[in-house]
Formats: sequence, C-alpha cells, structure tokens
Amino acid sequence: MHINTPNLHAARQRGFLNNMIIAMLLAGAGVLFGTTAFAADDGIVGDAAAGEAKAAVCAACHGIDGEALQAEFPNLAGQGAGYIAKQLADYKSGERENAIMLGMAAQLSEQDMADLGAYFESQPAIKGIAEDRQDLKLGESIYRGGITDAKIPACMACHGPSGEGNPAAKWPALAGQNSAYITETLNHFRSQARANDPNEMMRNVARRLGDDEIAAIANFLQGLN
Ligand code: HEC
Ligand code: HEC
Repeated sequence: MHINTPNLHAARQRGFLNNMIIAMLLAGAGVLFGTTAFAADDGIVGDAAAGEAKAAVCAACHGIDGEALQAEFPNLAGQGAGYIAKQLADYKSGERENAIMLGMAAQLSEQDMADLGAYFESQPAIKGIAEDRQDLKLGESIYRGGITDAKIPACMACHGPSGEGNPAAKWPALAGQNSAYITETLNHFRSQARANDPNEMMRNVARRLGDDEIAAIANFLQGLN
C-alpha cells in the first residue's frame, strides 16, 4: 500500500484550517449574540451548553430551566451570569451563609460557576404574578421613588426600571422573583445574616425597611416584568 505523505499532510492542514475558521466564526457569533459565552473578570469564559449539563443537580430546587419549584427558593432563569457566579463563590467561601448552598457550591470550580451562570442567564426570565393587594402601590412607590424621609433610596436606581438589574455590575435582576424568597433575603440583609453585599449596599437599605414595606415590595417585584 502506498501512502502519499505530503498530500495527506496538506489535506490535514486544509482540514485543520477549515476547522479553525469555523471555530473562529462560532466564537464570533457567540460574542455577537451574547448568549453562549460570558467573560468573568478574571478572563474565565462561561459556556452555557456546558452549564446546562452541570445544572442537572440544581433542578430539584431551582428547576431545570431555572424556575424554582418552591417559592422559598430563588428563580435563576434570566439572572445575570456574573451575579450567579458571585453568589456561588460567596457560598463556597462562606461569605454568604447557607448550609444547603454551601454543600452545592463546595464542589464547584470557578469554571463551573461561570458555566452555570451562563446557562441560567440564557434561560427566559420568569413572569410572575403579584397578589392583588392594597399594598401593591406602596411597593411600587418605594421601588420607583424610595422613601425620602426614611433615607431609603429608589431600588430602581440600582436594580433598573423594569427590575432587570445591572448584569455588568453584578447587581441582580429582581423582576418576577418569588416574593417569599425576596422577603426572606431582605430580612437576612436587615439582620446582617446575609452580609455579602459590597460596601453594605443592601444592608444600608434593608435596615431602614419595616416588615410591611418589605412585604409590599416583595409582592410588587413578583409581578414586575
Ligand atoms: C436542595 C435545594 C437546592 C439545590 C439542589 C440547589 N440550590 Fe441553590 N438555592 C437553594 C436555596 C434554599 C437558596 C437560598 C439560600 C439563601 O437564602 O441564601 C439557593 C440560592 C441559590 C443562589 C442565589 C440566588 C440569588 O438570587 O441570590 C444561586 C445562584 C443558586 N442557589 C444556584 C444553585 C446552583 C447553580 C445549583 C446546582 C449546582 C443549586 N443552586 C442547587 C436551594 C438549592
Ligand atoms: C446602591 C445600589 C442598590 C440599591 C439602591 C438597592 N439595591 Fe438591592 N442589591 C444591590 C446589590 C449590589 C445586590 C447584590 C449584593 C450581592 O452581591 O449579593 C442587591 C441585592 C438585592 C436583593 C437580593 C436579590 C437576590 O436574588 O438574592 C434584593 C431582594 C434587593 N437587592 C432588593 C432591593 C430593594 C427592595 C431596594 C430598594 C428598597 C434595593 N434593593 C436597593 C444594590 C442595591
């Protein structure tokens, strides 16, 4: 049998070049559409497809598409990838204390966290419904305008007019989030049980909120979209 080595080599190189071009085009498309790749500060790029496989263990509580199975668990669908990765790192380091999530995050690498973030961010955000209650207007007015006398800033200044958050700054989206989870986590900021907010940004806000105001905001946010 005769093998024509130079030609085979040339054919391999052509194949290699074609694959390179395809890979570059795909990478370019990922950047353009912003759905498949997410670059963390330290240059780690999240891969949504890899994240989907890794999210199987999260499904029991957060749902396979990021829609939580219980109101006490947060929805993750559509949440910013950088915020998700930060929370996972905070659970792992103990900066955000929660026994369940410590157990989940302890095994994750930075790459896993970025991949999981990219996957859940790529899922369509949940559209929740607010309860038709008297305090809905109070919740909306605090969200949009704060309470000047109590030195409570408008939540929307950081979390966005439609509750979309600020993904680049890792400030979370709140629209459609479960009101039971929002109530609990605001209570935790208020009591300092949750203390992983940079510069005490949220503790400074939450310590000025009363129970009725927290309930009103949480209900309003669940219906915001
Ligand atoms: C057994 C249930 C359970 C499982 C499984 C689970 N979680 Fe959680 N998760 C929770 C609970 C409960 C909280 C809220 C904890 C708290 O109050 O800090 C949470 C919070 C989070 C948060 C913070 C969300 C926010 O809005 O701040 C992220 C991110 C998260 N989980 C990601 C994951 C990922 C990724 C997996 C899979 C690797 C996972 N979770 C598996 C129950 C679970
Ligand atoms: C100065 C900016 C700023 C303002 C104003 C602000 N927040 Fe936040 N908020 C943040 C940041 C940053 C975080 C995330 C902290 C972290 O990294 O865990 C956060 C987190 C939250 C969370 C937790 C979300 C989750 O998924 O766990 C809730 C709920 C929340 N804010 C509600 C509010 C409400 C309600 C108001 C108005 C009364 C408000 N915030 C005003 C910056 C702000």
